[in-house]
Amino acid sequence: MRSSVSIRDVAVRAGVSVGTVSNVLNHPDRVAQATRARVLSAISDLGFVRNESARQLRAGTARAIGLVVLDVANPFFTDVARGVEDVASQAGHAVILCNSDESAQREIRHLELLAEQRVHGVLITPSDPSLEPIRRLQRRGVSVVLLDHPSSEPDICSVAVDNRTGGELAVTHLLAEGHQAIVMVNGPAHIRQGRERHLGALDALRKANRDSDLLEVIEVPMLNVAAGLRAGERLLARTSRPTAVFCANDMLALGVLQVMVRAGVRVPDDLAIVGYDDIDFAAAAAVPLTSVRQPRQLIGRTAAELVIAETMSPDEHEHQRVVFTPELVVRESSRRRRRTRRPARRVPAPAGSEV
Ligand code: RIB
Repeated sequence: MRSSVSIRDVAVRAGVSVGTVSNVLNHPDRVAQATRARVLSAISDLGFVRNESARQLRAGTARAIGLVVLDVANPFFTDVARGVEDVASQAGHAVILCNSDESAQREIRHLELLAEQRVHGVLITPSDPSLEPIRRLQRRGVSVVLLDHPSSEPDICSVAVDNRTGGELAVTHLLAEGHQAIVMVNGPAHIRQGRERHLGALDALRKANRDSDLLEVIEVPMLNVAAGLRAGERLLARTSRPTAVFCANDMLALGVLQVMVRAGVRVPDDLAIVGYDDIDFAAAAAVPLTSVRQPRQLIGRTAAELVIAETMSPDEHEHQRVVFTPELVVRESSRRRRRTRRPARRVPAPAGSEV
């Protein structure tokens, strides 16, 4: 368990910096006798207990950090992993990549394996909404950072992108293009990212004084191309189709796009399509895909920096909640035909949505 008294409390009590307290604990010879006495007195008065389990754990641990992602086949996570590895390798750490396939059971097994490997820290996009498996890992002294998952918990770092603003950007764009019947292809309710994007889509309708019935949701079991293909086939089989589709990520959108192009459906004239992530394949698609861009490598770098900082100085570390703002990149898959081809246009998030 973590001491309720932090190293910062000791520093304030003794009237010194956190670094001085750390030196008293780790390099007492570097601290003047009188200062050392003040710090030790504050430690005694406050009952400060250093995070020994984490220190002992680190003493005999692999210089590695675990990275648990929802779908290793999704380029979003490949790009995030690239950012993680850039930072980890510079800090002399290896990265152990695990794929949960959006399964809470697989996630638990991966976390147990990483604890056995004595990794320094773990970055995870959680499948289990309770976060209990992650709490168990923390109680074993392993530092954890939630990745692509905002958290308001005071004792864990998180790095995410404002999914709700992203969903609003996508549907506001489709409404501005004149669409009256929009389908959202979304993942299962336990995947928080899609749930929040759907809330943002409803925000766009409300702000435009449009009825929420204008948006219909088709739920698919996984956020991958195969599920997008199946959703595209369902839309194709309809007699009355929507004029626009907003997909919870680019993998779904690429599946829908493939079905429509193969069937001769004109994109965007017969059906506009918007994705989410802006992976590299989005711009290279048969019809370049409009998508909500997430700063994928930056997410990975930021999360890796936080987990390494915490493992190096668990007592001094202050947890952070980092939330980036997405932007909409408009391309041919949703932009009404113009006589001249125009480059992709970026649409910043609405004013006041900075997070
Ligand atoms: O894993 C599902 C989705 O959530 C990814 O495509 C990415 O958008 C993440 O935020």
